[in-house]
Amino acid sequence: MARAKLLVANWKLNHYRQDALSFAEQIKGRIKKTASLDIAVAPVATLLHEVGCALRETSVDLAAQNVSGFHAGAFTGEISAQHLKEQDVKYCIVGHSERRSLFGEKDADIGKKVAALNEQSIIPIVCVGETLAERQSNLWQQVLARQCEGAFALLGPKAEVVIAYEPIWAIGTGVAAHHTDAEEAHNFIRQELVKYLGQERSLTSRIIYGGSVSVENIGTFMEQPNIDGALVGKASLQVSSFLSMVEVLGGR
Ligand code: PGA
Repeated sequence: MARAKLLVANWKLNHYRQDALSFAEQIKGRIKKTASLDIAVAPVATLLHEVGCALRETSVDLAAQNVSGFHAGAFTGEISAQHLKEQDVKYCIVGHSERRSLFGEKDADIGKKVAALNEQSIIPIVCVGETLAERQSNLWQQVLARQCEGAFALLGPKAEVVIAYEPIWAIGTGVAAHHTDAEEAHNFIRQELVKYLGQERSLTSRIIYGGSVSVENIGTFMEQPNIDGALVGKASLQVSSFLSMVEVLGGR
């Protein structure tokens, strides 16, 4: 089953306007379009429009970092999936562990967000992953199964989704998961997806890895049969390392 790889730069709360636009300018003309690689950049919400405009002539797509589960109404501070659609957003990260742990997002909230994105034909990038304690006590499968259920229970089998396996202990620590452990988790997630999306969608859905991905280790992850790309934080902030990762994935 040939799945195009997906590289997503998760800028988190980094890059103010000038740096974000300069990043976009610098990558212009330096990435080739290929059918085997999709690339997206996720700036903060206020920069979606301008970064999107700056990347318009490129093959790099726009991703948001979060979305409301509500469509409209008295929800101060929220941004709906339709608002993101108006900015030509193609993907939206949902349920990142920082949102789960720092902002109290629950599996059920994430399910609503995924459904709201699906209604607007924005592809959710659903983050799942266990803590170090959960891995050490061999609870990781239970955790991933519960997170998948929360995220996908409201979806029909036609929905296009991306799952990002991000073990919490690997995010921002410089200690990535071992590629064989990651492959095992991705394979497990793919089996879980069958329950919600069916066999065919499970095989065509991309499951990407995140957590201390670097120029040095990205190639090894990509060689694993069930690892279809990467969600990259720190190493995606510099143009040079971002382009080096694109190169490893065959996009230069
Ligand atoms: P990291 O972040 O690459 O800095 O570990 C990944 C993520 O949080 O998505």
